[in-house]
Amino acid sequence: MAMFRLALLPKPPFIFRRYPYKARGRMLAALGPDLARPVVMGADDRPPADTPMGRIFNGSDNIHKLRHYLPIYESVLQGTERMLEIGVDRGGSLRMWRKYLPEAKIVGIDFNPKAAQYDAPDDDIHVRIGDQTDVAFLGRVLDEFGPFDTILDDGGHQPSQMIGSFQYLFPRLAPGGVYAVEDVCANYWTGYRDRSESFIDFTKWLMDAMHAPYMQMSSVFEFQEGHPKRRREMEVPLAATIIDRIEVFDSVVVVHKAEEPKRLARAAFR
Ligand SMILES: C[S@@+](CC[C@H](N)C(=O)[O-])C[C@H]1O[C@@H](n2cnc3c(N)ncnc32)[C@H](O)[C@@H]1O
Repeated sequence: MAMFRLALLPKPPFIFRRYPYKARGRMLAALGPDLARPVVMGADDRPPADTPMGRIFNGSDNIHKLRHYLPIYESVLQGTERMLEIGVDRGGSLRMWRKYLPEAKIVGIDFNPKAAQYDAPDDDIHVRIGDQTDVAFLGRVLDEFGPFDTILDDGGHQPSQMIGSFQYLFPRLAPGGVYAVEDVCANYWTGYRDRSESFIDFTKWLMDAMHAPYMQMSSVFEFQEGHPKRRREMEVPLAATIIDRIEVFDSVVVVHKAEEPKRLARAAFR
């Protein structure tokens, strides 16, 4: 009865607006007995790999990154000319990107006005103050510095922020660009869960969107070379035409934008 009364309140109290992660039991059931068997996982105290970014990271301060992100970012940042990082904090990561990508334009956004002190136009590091969910603000940043070929979201880490920024910025990424979302692990903690859907849940929708054409087909004949049932065109969500591939790492999701609009698949049967 008390719960029923709470549900009628216009704004439920704080504790009821949090979404604890409850899917562990369902995950274990889905894994089956071999994959779900409990084993011990140890801490990683090995010396970090000696790589160009690792050396820059080791010489950087005022920065906060999980060590295993570095090789992921070495791959993500290949060929980057214009980079946007959401979340400036103490400015250390912007300076690290500056050293790693000496020719690139580095742009950081943060809603904390104190981050403005890390604006350094003489070093082609630019900081703008605003909320990552404010699309008018994001639009102004794109007008001033875009299109970006690499975007890294290391901002508020709440699903609404991560998903909201992605929904606006990914379609506006340069063709062939890369969008990385950092610290998706945070969504498993109630303090970083402002809605029921996590960024990993959203990633699953992106994977479905890549397969949207197949949702509207009923057999392989509809994309088979030379078959009378082959479809010449089809209305699909934009996402199906611009998501090239999705990589899921421990706590980082990387979504690659296609170089050009994707076409319907084409099967050969001989
Ligand atoms: C994890 S820190 C960034 C760390 C930095 N990128 C690094 O690697 O050292 C996250 C930053 O995101 C900012 N932030 C949180 N929510 C935000 C939002 N809604 N819009 C913009 N910035 C936000 C915080 O002020 C904070 O400075």
